[in-house]
Amino acid sequence: MSASTILERTAPLYERVRSVIPPIEWPVFADDIDAILALKRQRDAVILAHNYMTPEIFHCVADIVGDSLALAREATKTDAKVIVLAGVHFMAETAKLLNPGKTVLIPDSRAGCSLAESITAEDVRLMRAAHPGVPVITYVNSSAAVKAESDICCTSGNALKIVESLGVPEVIMLPDEYLAQNIAAQTKVKIWAWAGHCEVHERFTAAEVRALRTDYPGVVILAHPECPPEVVREADYAGSTADMSVFVGREKPARVVLLTECSMADNVSVQHPDVSFVRPCNLCPHMKRITLPKIRHCLETMQEEVSIEPTLAERARRSVQRMLEVR
Ligand code: 13P
Ligand code: SF4
Repeated sequence: MSASTILERTAPLYERVRSVIPPIEWPVFADDIDAILALKRQRDAVILAHNYMTPEIFHCVADIVGDSLALAREATKTDAKVIVLAGVHFMAETAKLLNPGKTVLIPDSRAGCSLAESITAEDVRLMRAAHPGVPVITYVNSSAAVKAESDICCTSGNALKIVESLGVPEVIMLPDEYLAQNIAAQTKVKIWAWAGHCEVHERFTAAEVRALRTDYPGVVILAHPECPPEVVREADYAGSTADMSVFVGREKPARVVLLTECSMADNVSVQHPDVSFVRPCNLCPHMKRITLPKIRHCLETMQEEVSIEPTLAERARRSVQRMLEVR
């Protein structure tokens, strides 16, 4: 296929992202995008992409985009034979748990998460032993082995609802200490936390938020609940990546800051060209392992496939399904 034909065919896609991708970079992306769109048809594949994927993935090849909760929910609805999870490993594991019969691919299996790596199944057993009878709520940012030791999962989008749904006076909430503390500030339920942190969100500080308010009077500041509690307290709103996106669409602030991963503001700004974004962001090195060439390669080779030992998967699936049943 000639380069000019590919450029012609992908021109409508470039229109979507021209505000965040310079014209000189587009021909390199266009070749991979064109190949990926053909491979998806050939393989009967869908691409589920997290909100932190770069705009050429998020806006040009993804079939479904969203936060961890939306990706888990949507993974249960697809009829495609193959799911490519453009996100980190725990997200691909969750998609596989919910689709044991489908092929789930991740473009780079080294795409980890500091939260998932902060805790093992043995740690969960020790926490249970220290707090007998107290239910364990595990953030989806965790391995299948940790989910298997848990009673129910949560995401940043439903954590408060999950805590309160259990109708108990105390819960263990793993592994994100800051998410647990931010939820504890909104409920009477006593929360026992683990000391895991997101290496991206823990870097934001309250002093940085105050400086933003001085430098940009009237700016609206949104924070992800993986940020330290003092950052969330200084922000105007805290919510999951999907909640932040909905907030911007609903409130249409003149100027906004998203205290989260860098690609988030790029992706949301494409949808809301009338909103001005101040961008003091942090990159997630794990999310950034996922690139267009790797997505193309994974559809060409059908590698790397996510697999989970069936007995472990059965136990981990129960925790995720319980979460999805809470409305
Ligand atoms: P969301 O569920 O809000 O998309 O968060 C996932 C994540 O990894 C944030 O760092
Ligand atoms: Fe994990 Fe933080 Fe990266 Fe999200 S941003 S995948 S929580 S390290």
